Amino acid sequence: MKSLSSSRRRFLESSLAAGGLFALDSASAQDADPGTRQATGVKVGEVSDTTAVVWMRLTAEAGRRAQGYAPKFESLPKDVRPDQVRYACPGMEGRVRLRYATRENLSDAVATAWQDVAAKTDFTHQFALNSLRPNSTYFYSAESAGRGGAPVHKPLVGQFQTAPAADQYADVSFTAISCTGFRDLDHSDGYHIFPTMARLNPRFYVHTGDNVYYDSDDLQANSVATARLHWQRMHGQPRQIAFHLRTPGYWLKDDHDTLANDCWPGQAVKRMLPLTFNDGLAVYREQVPMSRLPYRTFRWGRGLQIWLMEGRDFRSPNTMADGPKKSIWGAEQKDWLFKSLLASSADYKILISPTPIVGPDRAKGKNDNHSNDAFHTEGNEIRAFFRKHLPERFLVINGDRHWQYHSVHPETGLHEFCTGAGSDAHAGGSPGYNKKFHRFHRVLGGFLSVSFRREKDRNTLRVKHHDVMGKEVYVHAWRG
Ligand SMILES: [Fe+2]
Repeated sequence: MKSLSSSRRRFLESSLAAGGLFALDSASAQDADPGTRQATGVKVGEVSDTTAVVWMRLTAEAGRRAQGYAPKFESLPKDVRPDQVRYACPGMEGRVRLRYATRENLSDAVATAWQDVAAKTDFTHQFALNSLRPNSTYFYSAESAGRGGAPVHKPLVGQFQTAPAADQYADVSFTAISCTGFRDLDHSDGYHIFPTMARLNPRFYVHTGDNVYYDSDDLQANSVATARLHWQRMHGQPRQIAFHLRTPGYWLKDDHDTLANDCWPGQAVKRMLPLTFNDGLAVYREQVPMSRLPYRTFRWGRGLQIWLMEGRDFRSPNTMADGPKKSIWGAEQKDWLFKSLLASSADYKILISPTPIVGPDRAKGKNDNHSNDAFHTEGNEIRAFFRKHLPERFLVINGDRHWQYHSVHPETGLHEFCTGAGSDAHAGGSPGYNKKFHRFHRVLGGFLSVSFRREKDRNTLRVKHHDVMGKEVYVHAWRG
């Protein structure tokens, strides 16, 4: 018989001491409000000048479960249920609705209909809000109740700002992050970068992917239930909840939050079965606010427009021979991108990609992105397009690589800024400073901030790298 891991033994012993496994059901985090039933918070996403999508989830308890089995890098043992894992936030049947208003006291609130939630969607629902006022602050009360409407729970309250209309100049700042592994958390209440980013008061943030690591973190996902558990542990942290109640986001996904390292459609990973690539796509859509298409663009006033790219759903196998048929983005997404870039009148255009387009990447063994030889043909095609049509005021932000950098492509002049990893412990893997490409290179955690300012008919765009506590470690600015 395989010997029990020490954490598993501790878990079983403490469960027995407490009078059995079910004693865990009453354990909840002390820092949570006992009256609420939304232990994974509220996420506002896909914000435009007139629309937003609000994600809600009903949970059995107010907060995450502070006690429970602490998995190491392993599949969940058969005698441990997902809801018995430490920091699980099990769902509950009932109903949710959103009341939202431009007045903080919600006296002018619009209420959505109550929406029943059940196990099929992991007790989540996404409300699509329309006809919002541009460049306005909205306050909301995310309300929940038990099955049939009783009891009514204490709501979570939050706020967000809509984007300025396309014909209006407005100052806008946002932040971008990547690669938030659970094992490498730098604080037990959540990553330092969340309260740090909140202090900068960004209009929104972008998670460029690797939100969770199904295949390579403590707890290997091998079912839809254990994949969902990864999201509960990440978004049930008090710091993430507080951040998302004040800051809307746009979520991209990469390989680890789809299925596994460098994955592509149809791939199966034996040790993770029966969890499939398609399950991963469905769980992602269920766990973050999303639009119909995974690639999309958002205008933030006259000055700024962002494009959010999808890098997994449409890709060719990484192992395919490189050539004009091999693609990461797929023909439809690429066509949409090129047309929408050419049609945009925004002063600054920012492409946000889960993976690098400039790099440089690790020299050996990587066959996953546009900076690798494995996708050289498409990489050249898109870099040439950007050079020809967007020679100025266009830049790329990417995630995935666990180091921060600003690179300029030697042949095309394309600028790329990598957010870096979510914590210092999660940083690493860089090929080292490369003077042909790098204007900046740092192998520690942190995030990126971007600010657009309009002063006396002059534009300034600043891109800054920050460490996890917010200190600026690099800045690059464009004027005009
Ligand atoms: Fe990553």
